[in-house]
Amino acid sequence: MRSVLTRQARVAGYDGKVTVSPQTNQPDLTAPALTTDQLGPHPDLKEIVQHHERHPWRKPCPAHTRAAFEQLFDRLQREQRPLILDSFCGTGMSTALIAEAHPDALVVGIDQSAHRLAKHQATGARNYLLLRAEAEPLWSCLAEADITLQSHWLLYPNPWPKAAQIKKRVHGHGAFPVLSRLGGALELRTNWDIFAQEFCQAAALIGINGETESFIPNSPMTLFERKYWDRGHTLWRFRGKCVN
Ligand SMILES: C[S@@+](CC[C@H](N)C(=O)[O-])C[C@H]1O[C@@H](n2cnc3c(N)ncnc32)[C@H](O)[C@@H]1O
Repeated sequence: MRSVLTRQARVAGYDGKVTVSPQTNQPDLTAPALTTDQLGPHPDLKEIVQHHERHPWRKPCPAHTRAAFEQLFDRLQREQRPLILDSFCGTGMSTALIAEAHPDALVVGIDQSAHRLAKHQATGARNYLLLRAEAEPLWSCLAEADITLQSHWLLYPNPWPKAAQIKKRVHGHGAFPVLSRLGGALELRTNWDIFAQEFCQAAALIGINGETESFIPNSPMTLFERKYWDRGHTLWRFRGKCVN
C-alpha cells in the first residue's frame, strides 16, 4: 500500500539525529556553515581532476559493494526501468522521496553506513532499493557494465573542509571522472559555497555541464538538508547534465 503521509509528516517521523561526528563547527544559528582554511576553490583542483582523468581509478571492489551491485543488476534485469542513483543517501529519506516522484524509475540509494541505513523509514513506494556499498567502486561497476543513469543525486556529501582534504571530497576523488560515464542529469547539494563552486568547475572538466545556485527547499529532501536549513545556512545546488 502506498504511504498516505505527507512529505512533511514523513520528515517529522525521523528522529532527526545525525549521529556521525560532525566535520564542521556549527555551534549556533549564526555560525558560519563550516570552518575552513580555504578562501576560494582549491588552487590544485584542475590539476587533480585532470590527473584522475589521465589515470583511471582502479581499486578492488569490496565484497559488500560487489554484492550490492549484483543485487542492483538483478533487479534492473527483471524490471527494465530507468535507473536513478542517490549516492551518499544516509537514511534513504531522499531515496524514498525520489522514488515517489519518479514511479517509472528504479531508485537506488547507496550509503556505506549500515547504521544510517538501518534508520530508514520505509514508505509504501516499491520502486526503490537501499544498498550498503561504497559509492565509488559501485559507480565503477555500473560503468564497466555499461549501465547508464536517468539521473544521479549527491545530497550533502561529506565536505572535508580543510584544504589538505581536497582529495577526500567527491570531486577530488580518483573515481570522480566515472560520474560522466554514467550519463544523465546530476544534482549535487551542499551548505558550503566553495564546495559547490569546486564541484561545478571539476564537473566541467569531465564533461558534466551545469550551474551552481543557492536555493530554498520547499521541504527538506534529507535530514542534513533540514538541519542546515534550520540553522540558517544558505543551501547550494549544482544541476548539470553529462554531455559525453
Ligand atoms: C553528510 S551525510 C549526508 C547523508 C544524506 N545524504 C543527507 O543529506 O542526510 C554523508 C553520507 O555519506 C556517506 N558516505 C561517505 N562516504 C561514502 C562512500 N565513499 N560511499 C558511500 N557512502 C559514503 C556517509 O555514511 C553519510 O551517510
